[in-house]
Amino acid sequence: MAEVVIVRDEEEAGELAASAIADLLRARADAVLGLATGSTPLSTYRALARRIDAEGISVAGVRGFALDEYVGLPAGHPEGYRQVITREVVEPLGLTPELIRVPNGDPATIRTAAEDYEAAIDAAGGVDLQVLGIGRTGHIGFNEPGSSLASRTRVKTLTERTRVDNARFFDSIEDVPMHCITQGIGTILRARHLVLLAFGDAKAEAIAAAVEGPVSASQPGSAIQLHPHATVIVDEAAAARL
Ligand code: GLP
Repeated sequence: MAEVVIVRDEEEAGELAASAIADLLRARADAVLGLATGSTPLSTYRALARRIDAEGISVAGVRGFALDEYVGLPAGHPEGYRQVITREVVEPLGLTPELIRVPNGDPATIRTAAEDYEAAIDAAGGVDLQVLGIGRTGHIGFNEPGSSLASRTRVKTLTERTRVDNARFFDSIEDVPMHCITQGIGTILRARHLVLLAFGDAKAEAIAAAVEGPVSASQPGSAIQLHPHATVIVDEAAAARL
């Protein structure tokens, strides 16, 4: 079973996750981070930026792979995950942009993008620590219910519920892409340490299913139970159904 840590609030969760990442970065100058988007990991990235500054941790050689990207957003769109990762992670942490990869959601090259991404993760020697959020549907990355637990990076169709949830980042729901490219559950499980964060009562059901439910493709988060080193950091509200 995953190790579950219940914290007071997002800030404390961020400090805890950031301290695990900082330990890794001190131990390995070329560590490979698995990066998540969404609002959940933001307190972690902020806490990590403070630690890097305060402790003078060298990050020039740190490599990174984002979990997912929308397919078909115009290049440079502020809600494209390439832009989000640049804004929320690469710049505040002072990472080297060329070492941080995001799946390529350009329709022109989408046929080879998934295979290329898997090959790049392999060539980097795999992900050391993967930061994860979880969707209300139980999705990790953009692996919606029904995704194979052995899946690898591929193009998926977003569920209506996820498009509605993510519409807050766009002018209207029509602007939310229909498709995404996401690391598979099998890809995520190959990371050496998973750190899943969740806050608020809207995530309570997904967290209960992930931590205590049967391992099932209908609850992608439950795949963490198959991982030998998974840490779940939640506030009281997200832990309410445990
Ligand atoms: C998004 C992302 C996921 C994220 C999840 C939760 O759509 N693709 O990687 O974990 O949904 O988002 P949030 O953290 O904003 O609740």
